[in-house]
Amino acid sequence: MFRKIALGFVAIVVILLAVGLYLKPTTNGPLLDFITGKQLATPTEATIDGRFQLPAGFSIGVFAANINNARMMRVTSRGDIVVSSMRPGEVILLHADSNGDGASDGRTVLLTGLDQPHGLAIKDGYLYVAETGGIGRALFDAETRKIGVLEPVFSDLPPGGNHKTRTIDFGPGGWLYVTVGSTCNACIEEHPFRAAMLRMKPDGSDAEIFATGLRNTVGFDWQPSTGRLYGTDNGRDLLGDDIPHCEINLIEADQFYGWPFTFDDLVVDPDFGAGRETEIASSRAMVHGLGAHVAPMGIKFLDAATSPEGYGGKALVALHGSWNRSTLSGYKLVSLEFGEDGSVTEADFLTGFEKDEDVIGRPVDIVQGADGAIYVSDDYSGTIYKIGWGDIIVPGSTLATSASASNPLEGIGETELIAFRGTGLDLFESNSCAFCHDAKQAPEGVQVKQLKKLGRRYTIESLQAFLDAPSGPMPRPDLTDEERRALAIYLLSEY
Ligand code: HEC
Repeated sequence: MFRKIALGFVAIVVILLAVGLYLKPTTNGPLLDFITGKQLATPTEATIDGRFQLPAGFSIGVFAANINNARMMRVTSRGDIVVSSMRPGEVILLHADSNGDGASDGRTVLLTGLDQPHGLAIKDGYLYVAETGGIGRALFDAETRKIGVLEPVFSDLPPGGNHKTRTIDFGPGGWLYVTVGSTCNACIEEHPFRAAMLRMKPDGSDAEIFATGLRNTVGFDWQPSTGRLYGTDNGRDLLGDDIPHCEINLIEADQFYGWPFTFDDLVVDPDFGAGRETEIASSRAMVHGLGAHVAPMGIKFLDAATSPEGYGGKALVALHGSWNRSTLSGYKLVSLEFGEDGSVTEADFLTGFEKDEDVIGRPVDIVQGADGAIYVSDDYSGTIYKIGWGDIIVPGSTLATSASASNPLEGIGETELIAFRGTGLDLFESNSCAFCHDAKQAPEGVQVKQLKKLGRRYTIESLQAFLDAPSGPMPRPDLTDEERRALAIYLLSEY
């Protein structure tokens, strides 16, 4: 008996290795890493600055790192970000930046031991989590960061299959929407919830099938100006490098979106389309083709009030990137502009996850903070990136933003600077500034406020003014105007 199991196990390992070796030279992309769950290291600041390209005025940095297999995200009312860490089975809360360096200030593991948690939603004091086989919710206080026990809401999602992720969100009328991908590349499904979008009441009651024929809609969002629901759909494989498109669909109630009988603008599927004229005629075509194998995941309409000019109302889509195409495609964020005539215009937004076939990450989901900052999850390096512009502080980035483009110390000569730095350092020491601003010198129990990247937010004058009237618990140092100026120059050159 045990011999048989052992032999079976050996056989499975041999088969997996053979498949791996067979696929590796013929496919292109991080397939083996995907199978083994290997994570890349967090890109360095130099890599980020050297690789990523954004439209003028935007900059990008690391908000949080080392979140294994980071997938979907939601922003809490406190400004924290909830992220699903799918393979380890956890949901993690990334604390908002409160010390002004733009990066997350810490994390709390909210939930553990879950079965491939993916979709997240926050509603009426609950955090909803979609595991592969069902949806649960737990009472969640965003302000205290305390979470209750996860209780099932809907346990009848068909688990696993080729497409294991379940994405959820709340839509109009308070319905909870959920997408379930197909079990296979192309096949006739047995379970009615497969390759479909469902919806239900927040407590899981009144569940119904909302739309069908959606092979794998990993992301969806409502266009604020129209209330229309748009979803990304991953096109099928094994028809070559260039067909079919991965799609953007306008998802409406009781509509059929074609899979597995048809794709693109109602092209007949060579394997499953024959004899399916009726189904194909009743199918809804995509509203936009993103290209083959680009693997679209999250889609997010940017907020009109907080986004920079020209971006409010546009949607950003994360293209996870191809794994079985002879040259890589996707691996970027694109922006989509939806015209009133139904046209969709696509443009690159964030590129550089892949360059010359070298991959440093795969984008999954996109959310926007209350200040307009854009966050992007990457499940391959376990990174949450933050994209900002204007006054939004982006950690570590040297790309130009309007706030950081100018050097506040410009115009001060070298000898002058050395003199100011000397006086400033003396003042810093004699006024016990390090007591609260240097972790090495602070007494135990004192909460250190790390001074960072002051040049992004202060000029000499504004920092002088701050030292004259500090905010919060910081005491006002008793200094002359000249001393405040020297101290400000020292701080700007040092931090
Ligand atoms: C008792 C603790 C304490 C001492 C002493 C102290 N600070 Fe502060 N300082 C703080 C705190 C707390 C803040 C954050 C205030 C806030 O967030 O509103 C702060 C903020 C600052 C900032 C703004 C940082 C930013 O990111 O915007 C600067 C600059 C600064 N302090 C410089 C100094 C200097 C220079 C001295 C010495 C003359 C000093 N501090 C002494 C506690 C202290």
